[in-house]
Amino acid sequence: MNDIVVENLSFAYEGTDRLILDGISMHINEGDFVCLLGQSGCGKSTFLRLLAGLEHATSGSIKMDGEEIKGADLNRSVVFQDYGLFPWKTAGDNILLALRQRYPQRSKKELREVAIDMLQQVGLNADVYKKYPKELSGGMQQRCAIARSFSMDPPVLLMDEPFGALDAVTRARLQDMLLSLWNNESEKKTVFFVTHDVEEALLLASRIFVFGQSPSHIIFERTIDPADRSTRETLYKSTKVAELREALIANINQDVMSRMD
Ligand SMILES: Nc1ncnc2c1ncn2[C@@H]1O[C@H](COP(=O)(O)OP(=O)(O)OP(=O)(O)O)[C@@H](O)[C@H]1O
Ligand SMILES: [Mg+2]
Repeated sequence: MNDIVVENLSFAYEGTDRLILDGISMHINEGDFVCLLGQSGCGKSTFLRLLAGLEHATSGSIKMDGEEIKGADLNRSVVFQDYGLFPWKTAGDNILLALRQRYPQRSKKELREVAIDMLQQVGLNADVYKKYPKELSGGMQQRCAIARSFSMDPPVLLMDEPFGALDAVTRARLQDMLLSLWNNESEKKTVFFVTHDVEEALLLASRIFVFGQSPSHIIFERTIDPADRSTRETLYKSTKVAELREALIANINQDVMSRMD
C-alpha cells in the first residue's frame, strides 16, 4: 500500500531559521485525490517538494509505504509550477528523458511514439515534439510538463497548479483526463494537486486541505464521501457541495483577513 503519512512535519529552508511549515500531519490513503489550497506564499509548493523528496523535513517525517521519503524516485512524478522543462532540450526530448528512466528496456522508437501520443492526448500537435520550450506558449509548456508526468505513469502524482495557464476548455479537458487516469480501478493513483481555484478542488478532490499562512499549518480539512463527489453537472446543484464551498471560502478569507489586521 502506497499510503503517505506526514507526521508533525516542520520545515525551514537550509540556511534560514524561518519556519515555512509548522506541525503538518496527514494520513493519505493510496488512491486519495488530495487538493491543497491556501494563500500565495503559504508553502504549498514547498510541501510538494518535500513529498517529492527534493527537500527534507527539518523535524517530523514523511513516509511512503512506511519508508521515509529520502529523495526523488520513479514512484512520484512532479508537474512543477514553473513547468520544470529543460530549456536546452526539445519538448520531445524532455519527455523521452523521463520515459527512458521509466522504461529502460524499450526502444527509442517505441518511446518516441508514446511521447507523441501523450502530447496529442494533452491537446498538442505532434510537431511540438521538435520545439524548444522557449518556442512554446506558457500553456503549451504546461501541457508538455503534464504529458511528461502522465507518461511516467507513477503511483503518486504531485501537481503544482498544473492547469493554471490553460484556457477554460483545455483546462476542463485535462481535468477530465486526470480524473479518468485517477479512476482507473486496476491501478489506484494518489494525487496531490495544488490549486487556487475552489471550484477545481470541489470537482477533483476526495480530500481537501487548506494551509494557513506562514508558518503554515492545516487550518481546514475535509474528506469527501465517494457518494457526495460532484461532477461538472452537479457542482452547482448539490447542497453538500454548496456547504463545503462556503466553508472553504470562509476559511481562506478568514486567513487572509487575520494577516491584514
Ligand atoms: N529556495 C527557497 N529558499 C528560501 N525560501 C524559499 C525558497 N523557496 C520558497 N521560499 C519561501 O517559502 C515560502 C513558501 O513558498 P512556496 O513557494 O512554497 O509558497 P506557495 O504556497 O507555493 O505560493 P504560491 O501560491 O504563490 O505558489 C515563501 O515565503 C517563499 O519566499
Ligand atoms: Mg507555489
